[in-house]
Amino acid sequence: MNVRIVEVGPRDGLQNEKQFLSTHAKKALIQKLIASGLKEIEATSFVHPKWIPQLADADELVARLPTYSDVNYRVLVPNAKGLERVNHSILKEIAIFCSASETHNQKNVNRKREESMADFATFVPVALEQGLRVRAYLSTVFGCPYEGEILLDQVHEMSERLFDLGVYEISLGDTIGVATPASVKRILGSLLSQFPAEKLAVHFHDTKGMGAANAYQAFEMGIQTFDSSIGGLGGCPYAPGASGNLATEDLVYLLQGSGVDTGVDLDQLCRTSQWLEGQLGTKLPSKVLRAHFA
Ligand code: HMG
Ligand code: MG
Repeated sequence: MNVRIVEVGPRDGLQNEKQFLSTHAKKALIQKLIASGLKEIEATSFVHPKWIPQLADADELVARLPTYSDVNYRVLVPNAKGLERVNHSILKEIAIFCSASETHNQKNVNRKREESMADFATFVPVALEQGLRVRAYLSTVFGCPYEGEILLDQVHEMSERLFDLGVYEISLGDTIGVATPASVKRILGSLLSQFPAEKLAVHFHDTKGMGAANAYQAFEMGIQTFDSSIGGLGGCPYAPGASGNLATEDLVYLLQGSGVDTGVDLDQLCRTSQWLEGQLGTKLPSKVLRAHFA
């Protein structure tokens, strides 16, 4: 079975750190992630630096990214202004993002969902014409910090509209980490009755320790693309209560134990996390990481 791991640590992970990691260290992190076998790297965000100061060096970082023939970098792009900044040939892909819940979308991008959709309609066709692949995140699918449970019809409708725009994949975000295998079964099961598994990815946060269990549930349902973050870094600054993403180490251990060849060297990955802990001066939450050096 083919499985893709989308490493979002340099973006989703670092956007939530108190400390600003230098551009040099960010580049070193990305190189170490690639050296451990990861091939899909979400490098940074072309959002407003005032909104996400930790990624204020996004343009400079992208200009410094090393080229590898088998590595795909992407950046988060909220609007046409963000797309204008994608003037680097190393970028072949962007990720747009929108929330399934109105309140989170408003807090996160200062737009109603309809306004975000209208923005997408202006710049996604331009991105596609430029030959960029476009991924979409649909956040708060499994629950919103402001509105609680999200109506499933709403998730279906928004997914349909995102696919109609021409995105090749939607990553379903459990932004605050409230999903359980049972809710994954219900919500993902419903989406899989409308969309093929190859077009859906899952993006779990491990707030309540359910990240790996949820990923396994999605894996059993045929999902092949999983987002994760080195060491379990991460969270959304505009989603109170959101903690780290599912750790890449935990995901790799889970997949390897399920007979999947991930192409990732777990020892090297853990050493990368250990290095990052030194850079950030903090312990990272991944359980597999902790056990690796116990
Ligand atoms: P705004 O203040 O409404 O922007 O912010 P505006 O359109 O009114 O423009 C105001 C100024 O910002 C203008 O400059 C624009 O040019 C500039 P001025 O004329 O005043 O000099 N501007 C920009 N500058 C640089 N890059 C841009 C850009 N756009 C406008 N792209 C905006 C709207 C979307 C920009 C802002 O709200 C923003 O940047 N939000 C991003 C917040 C964010 O990154 N949140 C975390 C994302 S993680 C997530 O959503 C969840 C996810 O991880 C999945 C999951 O976990 O579930 C994906
Ligand atoms: Mg996230």
